Amino acid sequence: MLVTRQPLLRKFWYPVIPLALLKEGPKAFTLLGRDLVLWVDGQGTPVAMDDRCPHRHAKLSKGWIENGQLLCGYHGWTYNAEGRCTRIPQKGDDDPANISVPRHRTAERFGYVWVALEEPLTTLPEIEEDGAPGFRRIYEFYEPWKCSGLRLMENSFDNAHFSFVHRHTFGKIQAPEPSKMNLAPFADGFGFTMDTVVPVKNVPLSQRSLNMPGVAETVRHNTGIWWMPFCRKLRMRYPTGLVHTIFTAATPINDRSSQIVQIAYRNDTEAEAKAADIIAFDRAVVTEDRDVLESTTFDTPVDLRRREELHMASDAPGLLMRRQLLAKFAEHGEEEAHNWGDQGRFPTTEQTGANHPFATEAMCLEMTYAGA
Ligand code: FES
Ligand SMILES: [Fe+2]
Repeated sequence: MLVTRQPLLRKFWYPVIPLALLKEGPKAFTLLGRDLVLWVDGQGTPVAMDDRCPHRHAKLSKGWIENGQLLCGYHGWTYNAEGRCTRIPQKGDDDPANISVPRHRTAERFGYVWVALEEPLTTLPEIEEDGAPGFRRIYEFYEPWKCSGLRLMENSFDNAHFSFVHRHTFGKIQAPEPSKMNLAPFADGFGFTMDTVVPVKNVPLSQRSLNMPGVAETVRHNTGIWWMPFCRKLRMRYPTGLVHTIFTAATPINDRSSQIVQIAYRNDTEAEAKAADIIAFDRAVVTEDRDVLESTTFDTPVDLRRREELHMASDAPGLLMRRQLLAKFAEHGEEEAHNWGDQGRFPTTEQTGANHPFATEAMCLEMTYAGA
């Protein structure tokens, strides 16, 4: 899937920048290949506009804010929060009232500015921990990765990679059998929940993060939510009663890269576990994920019929993502945009005439079960 060529993806909300960063002045962000300038008006309301001044096409993100309006740094043309030009300092012949820059809808949630390029099909994600009594919010990561959002999303629900990718942090390499899972698609087809129980190693870095000194192994009761297309929440509950929830978004910058946003929520205090230790452990984990995910194909196959990938039972969440995305594309008269050829790369069971060693999509979905 080439995200910039998939119009449906313009109809979702994406977190693009921490609101706090805009206090420094206008900032640039590329969303689905579209260059935007983000800034805040006199009321502190975030504004997203195309990052292109209509005069000589300078990037407006190189300008600055004056009296709650955005001033182009090249010749000083000035724009209000509606995107309308309100002032041409050189007093040219053009009537500024008739000049404007395309503006995009914004929202604010979890301290981030969210943008949807077209009328969104879904609402912004709700996180029950955000603002709940006893929970603190910890900003973890905001950085570009060279991988597709779908790769990060499927990885977030992939119980089979822990033993390998995370063998130095929480994964048990001697126990590669993935935990079973319970998948429940949303009724509207825009995502799913997943429950699973995962036994994990508890290395010293993790012992500090979880406030479990000297405990070498523990278990996570995980509840995950996938919100189409590129947001997820993972609530991890430990036997001590500790809840460590992470919200992660892979905001699509272009076909090859995604901006990773990660926020943690904890029901403990700084005295029990320092935010710096919590971030340090999660940093070790995401660094492991990043290393492998940046090696995967960014043109991530969605339509399984092309057989560009092989699957196993633990891939069921990623397959459900593909199926739900493909269904929404079809509802909107779209097909997957991709650069793979027409022919699949791997033969079917029918073609080989043998028992295929890999599971089919149907088998994968059957092998999930309730009550994991
Ligand atoms: S390019 Fe923006 S004012 Fe000239
Ligand atoms: Fe991972």
